[in-house]
Formats: sequence, structure tokens, C-alpha cells
Amino acid sequence: HGRLQSISKIRAIRFSNYEIETWYTAPYPEEYNRRSLLFICEYCLKYMSSEYVNWRHQLKCPARHPPGDEIYRSGDVSIFEVDGRKNPMYCQNLCLLAKLFLGSKTLYYDVEPFLFYIMTETDDRGCHFVGYFSKEKLTTSNYNVSCILTLPIYQRKGYGNFLISFSYLLTRTEGKVGTPEKPLSDLGLLSYRNYWKQTMCYQLHEIFESGSDSGTNTISIAKLSERTGMTSDDVVCGLEALNAIVRDPRTGRYAIRVDRALVELAIAKWEAKGYIRLEPDKLIWTPLV
Ligand code: COA
Ligand code: NA
Repeated sequence: HGRLQSISKIRAIRFSNYEIETWYTAPYPEEYNRRSLLFICEYCLKYMSSEYVNWRHQLKCPARHPPGDEIYRSGDVSIFEVDGRKNPMYCQNLCLLAKLFLGSKTLYYDVEPFLFYIMTETDDRGCHFVGYFSKEKLTTSNYNVSCILTLPIYQRKGYGNFLISFSYLLTRTEGKVGTPEKPLSDLGLLSYRNYWKQTMCYQLHEIFESGSDSGTNTISIAKLSERTGMTSDDVVCGLEALNAIVRDPRTGRYAIRVDRALVELAIAKWEAKGYIRLEPDKLIWTPLV
């Protein structure tokens, strides 16, 4: 009996004016799993089981943006930093929402050790939730992202890429290098591989631009890691995607060598998409020490 009841019937969420199909189940309290549609407040992320409760909530919910500090704003895009210890309810609701789109196990209730970075788009009604990533506050590992999500209604528009760029901006500001927590989901891996390759393109482009006319400019994996905040492994992954790591068959040594035209073409293709770009100088943030 109990076990049957705990099987979730949730198939979609109502979020703002959208109805979004869910991909996986999340451990919502049993009474919320009995209907196929779950209502979620787009501002405070409270979950509700009926249209009526949702309607009542919308009348009285004062939130028009995530809690915490707005640490980035450019045009209508903002990022809020939310501390799991100061806003446990919001962060728990966020983790449950994310689980609806994540196959692997993730945390839901133990949110205190994490910071959450929420990306929003603002209009005259408020700051609309687009996606987020979480990050462990104090860690001995070099993980700079624990979990990352773009709401399905916003996917494949470059927002995930923006969030990833932002996570590395924080890491560089901390004077560190970082990598996402493993294992990554299939979508996570596709997005990161794309980001690492693209970041290497921009780095190589800059080096070409600043370089000598002789045609050779030197750069090392360590230097690329320092400049990007990416780990050496991820730098190598990005370079390999450009076939830029070559082995001298006589000496057996490896070198970075890349065709400039290939790099310029990859950049032009990416920029033609018109995705939003991170503006590092719009960050107002100092790391925890
Ligand atoms: N298929 C193929 N390539 C994809 C892809 C997909 N579904 N999603 C992302 N990529 C690659 C593409 O190269 C894409 O560029 P393009 O769309 O111009 O081809 C690039 O990554 C950037 O994608 P972007 O639009 O910035 O990503 P997104 O906003 O869709 O967000 C995730 C990516 C991973 C955050 C999103 O898919 C997601 O939330 N998934 C569910 C949660 C999850 O698995 N998180 C990761 C593990 S914690
Ligand atoms: Na995209």
C-alpha cells in the first residue's frame, strides 16, 4: 500500500504560464505525487498540488526575484547568489525542481554546504528563473559546479553555456582552477565539451592576434589552464576536440599545433548564433575565504 502510493504520478509542472513535461521523478512529499500536474511558483519555487492553492499563492506571494544577493546584472540578465544555510527552503525547492530533469541522484535537503547561482531574465513583472548551478562552499576537491540546469523551455539557446562561463569566472576570481563534479549527465558532458573547445578557440585566437609574424607563438597547457580557470585535463580535452595536440613521431613529444583558419571558423560559427555573452566586469563579488 505505502509503496504504491509513493510512486509519483507527476508528469508535468505548471511554472509561470508554461506547462513543462518532466523527465524524471523527484522525492516530493507523498501528497504531492498523487496528481499528474504539480504547480510551482516561479519566484519562490514553492510547490503546490492544485490550481486553486496555486491561485491563492500567486495573490499573496511577495517574491519577484530569487532570495540572496544579485551579484551580476547586464541588460535583463541577472545572477543571484543564494546561500543554502540562509535560504534552506528555497534551495530545497530548487533541488527538487532540478531533480525532475536529472536522472542521477542528487541532494535535496542537505543544502547548507552549498551556494546556488540563479540566472534570471527580467521584465516588467519580475525576474524569471532561467536556470542555475550549485557549488560546494568549502571543498578540498577542485569541483566548481555540483549541479547545473537550464529549464527545458530555455534549453539550446546558449544559457547553459552562459552559466558554465559564469562558474569559471567565479573560479578565476578565486584564483583557482575548477572542473564540474563527476559523473556528468549526457547533456552536461555535451555542454561542457562544447564549452572547453570553444574556450580554447578564443584563447588560441587571442594568442594568434597578439603573436609575432613569424607564425609560431608559444603557449603551454599550464598557461591555458591559468588563463581560463579550467583544469589541465579539461584544457587537453578542449584542444583534442580541435585536433590541436600533435605528437612528434621522432621525439615522441607532444605539442600544441592548430590551424588558425579552423579556429577563426569555429568562432565565427559560434558567434553567428547570437547567444548572450558573459561580461566579466559586471560581476560584483568577492569570494569566501
Ligand atoms: N544535444 C546536443 N548538444 C547539446 C545539447 C543537446 N541536447 N545541449 C547542449 N549541447 C551542446 C551544443 O553544442 C550546444 O550548442 P548549440 O545549441 O548551439 O548546438 C552547447 O552545448 C550549449 O548549449 P546551451 O544551449 O548553452 O545549453 P542549455 O542551456 O541547453 O543547458 C544543460 C545545458 C546541460 C544545463 C541542460 O541540458 C540541462 O539542464 N540538462 C538537464 C540537467 C543536466 O543534465 N545537468 C547536467 C548534469 S548536473
Ligand atoms: Na544552445
